[in-house]
Amino acid sequence: MQGLKVTLAERERSYPVYIGRGLLEGLGEFSRREKFPKRVAVIADSTVARLYGQAALSSLEGAGHTAELLSFPAGEASKTLGTAQVLYEELLERGFDRGCGVIALGGGVTCDLAGFVAATYMRGLPWAAVPTTLLAQVDAAIGGKTGVDHRKGKNLIGAFHQPSFVLVDPAVLSTLPQRELHAGLAELLKTALIGDADLFRLAEQQLSTVLSGELSPLEEAVARAVRVKAEVVSRDEREGGLRRILNFGHTLAHALEAATNYRYFLHGEAVAWGMIAATWLSWRRGLLEEAEHKRIERLLLKLSKPPLPEVSSEALLEHLRRDKKIVAGRLYYVLLRGIGEAVVEGGVTEGELLSAWEYIRTVEEGSSRNPSPLPRHPSRILVLHGPNLNLLGEREPEVYGKMTLKELNRALEDFARERGIELRIFQSNHEGVLIDLLHEHRGWADGIVINPGALTHYSYALRDAIAAVGLPTVEVHLSDIHSREPFRRTSVIRDVCIAQISGKGLGSYLEGIEVLRKEEKGAAGAG
Ligand SMILES: NC(=O)c1ccc[n+]([C@@H]2O[C@H](COP(=O)([O-])OP(=O)(O)OC[C@H]3O[C@@H](n4cnc5c(N)ncnc54)[C@H](O)[C@@H]3O)[C@@H](O)[C@H]2O)c1
Ligand SMILES: [Zn+2]
Repeated sequence: MQGLKVTLAERERSYPVYIGRGLLEGLGEFSRREKFPKRVAVIADSTVARLYGQAALSSLEGAGHTAELLSFPAGEASKTLGTAQVLYEELLERGFDRGCGVIALGGGVTCDLAGFVAATYMRGLPWAAVPTTLLAQVDAAIGGKTGVDHRKGKNLIGAFHQPSFVLVDPAVLSTLPQRELHAGLAELLKTALIGDADLFRLAEQQLSTVLSGELSPLEEAVARAVRVKAEVVSRDEREGGLRRILNFGHTLAHALEAATNYRYFLHGEAVAWGMIAATWLSWRRGLLEEAEHKRIERLLLKLSKPPLPEVSSEALLEHLRRDKKIVAGRLYYVLLRGIGEAVVEGGVTEGELLSAWEYIRTVEEGSSRNPSPLPRHPSRILVLHGPNLNLLGEREPEVYGKMTLKELNRALEDFARERGIELRIFQSNHEGVLIDLLHEHRGWADGIVINPGALTHYSYALRDAIAAVGLPTVEVHLSDIHSREPFRRTSVIRDVCIAQISGKGLGSYLEGIEVLRKEEKGAAGAG
């Protein structure tokens, strides 16, 4: 098994990126060839673990590695220190030491999070990335930036930690949801626009084919995009600041994402709008020829993205100012001098930015877009299991039942999926971790189901956190706390919850979810 090989020369050392359809099967062989540690923790989100976890483990084991799968709930909301903490604990419990390695199997969230865990666990373990979204294959997995989000902003905590190798298998993109594919294509086109005119031409010829579901052209396209990013990142070492061109389309995109609370656009969708604006600005400033402007715009409009939201120009500027992107009324902006050639221009004015914003609104009206209403997000529910629930099935099964936590979580996920509800599920034995998780999900969750375990009897800190987060919360318990020891009847949390359900085992949780659903519908109806 060979695949194309791109070498990234970065900082202290270089590493290979292997690209080819079907390479996932050879993960074990590549790991052995790269002298990756024998014992490996494969970290994947819940979706990717289900789709590709087994394939990764089998391949690693077939090549003589010992591999274990660690997973966390899918989605950006998991990219936090809270999830890192849960992963550290799991690594410690399973006895992973400095001689082991981490493999990140998944999208950008997984690469950032697992890479960060690898960078920090026991002062750093070797890691490898197996990106499974198009965005991660052409962007997130390349360049050695790892990290997590903070309540105050994205990617605020992190480390540079170069992987030992990266394995890119475009075949796994066949299971990617359409929206994610389009968002990843936006980043791929960005790479073409800033550094590879041939890739842009290839996209002009093949984009419709790819959008119709025939993904084979992606193999060459991804390889080219990886090469461009590798080149930019490597040269940045010598020509400080070159890396900034990777932000083409991103200034406006970040403001749009922030102005819509990160709940409306996928990142790549916002970047597509940002690139349309930046391309227009490049033409307006006389950097780019009109014909090229039109060619670029035509291609970017083929990517589907939600319509522009109602955001006032003032609100957009406010986000840019808060981001310190605008200094004294001016900002640095990445523009195009041609297809495949980017420049960083200082001195773009607020006025120009507003004209670009006005412009993309007219483009939107002019294009044959289906003016569908804003997509309604499915209800999002945070499920927290407190102390000792990791021992479910083993600890006093006559009281708590024989079902393990894994089985219980799977049942919850099935129940939620059938109802179009998104769940994030966490367990921790630590009061502080549960509180952090509550805080971190403030912007994400519509409601909370929490089994606080025995913390319910005395944790005023947990009670205050639930009150502070201000989301409808249901307290649940597996056993009937009212028919057990007297101390179990006290709950200091009950009065900040909309309901308390106990004694129904798994049913307590399911009922909790139903209560939240009704609450939400009621709230929507009232509004
Ligand atoms: N480190 C960097 O240089 C860098 C660069 C760009 C973006 N990022 C980060 O990347 C993140 C976004 O990455 P993303 O868009 O890949 O998000 P993601 O990792 O959340 O993946 C998106 C969704 O696709 C699912 N998925 C992944 N692979 C799949 C497959 N093959 N089939 C079916 N479903 C699959 C995931 O479970 C998830 O629900 C952001 O947090 C961003 O900050 C980092
Ligand atoms: Zn991006």
